[in-house]
Amino acid sequence: MDSDNRVSIDFMGKTYEVSPHTTLLGALLEIGWDSVKGLGCMGGCCGACAAWYRLPGEAHVKSGLACRTPVKDGISFSLAGHYHSPKPSYDLSELKNPKQDLFDLYPEVTTCRNCEMCVQVCPQGIDPMQGVWYATFGDFAKVAEMFKSCVQCGLCARVCSVGIRPHLVAIYASRVQGACLMEKPTDLLERLSQIESGTFRDEWEAVLQSQVKPSEPEPSQ
Ligand code: SF4
Ligand code: SF4
Ligand code: FES
Repeated sequence: MDSDNRVSIDFMGKTYEVSPHTTLLGALLEIGWDSVKGLGCMGGCCGACAAWYRLPGEAHVKSGLACRTPVKDGISFSLAGHYHSPKPSYDLSELKNPKQDLFDLYPEVTTCRNCEMCVQVCPQGIDPMQGVWYATFGDFAKVAEMFKSCVQCGLCARVCSVGIRPHLVAIYASRVQGACLMEKPTDLLERLSQIESGTFRDEWEAVLQSQVKPSEPEPSQ
């Protein structure tokens, strides 16, 4: 750290001095980094800013979201960048056996080697390996629950040596769970049907008529 309490960061091999009270992404904005890639919500939700970084004195390269990872004097980092993960197309309404269809859409799920690389890199603390296993055993409810905080950064797929895309498997399982496997909310569906057929039209009109009209502005003195 220099005398003005700035910290030294190494971004893609070049050194910069930045405020100590910022994140890796904040530091990039501070140094005028000119790119829209890797910039998104700035709040840890979109997964656009996945980054690799190494802390001073450590040999291990870690991963994180650049908008959530604080700078540290001597930190070295780069953004992970975007790689498109191929997505098989499917129509939920046409799936005949969604649990079995998983193996047609994502055949590689059965080849997991339990290497835990995906677990190591997930910035959200999810266990993608376990999630893939739950998916292969058809426990889609568990998968949906596990991946609720997934930001689709794609790091888990990036490091998988057998080409498993845990984040896409999770989306598939979650969609199937919601659309095909969950018990239908019969009361809600009945009420929606009543609304659509006009059962409450008179009541709704009465509500509209009873709305308080905005008061006239006071005449100026
Ligand atoms: S599960 Fe995969 S895509 Fe989701 S946050 Fe973790 S590493 Fe990123
Ligand atoms: S990185 Fe791939 S092979 Fe390794 S545990 Fe995760 S899903 Fe399985
Ligand atoms: S910019 Fe969206 S998660 Fe970091």
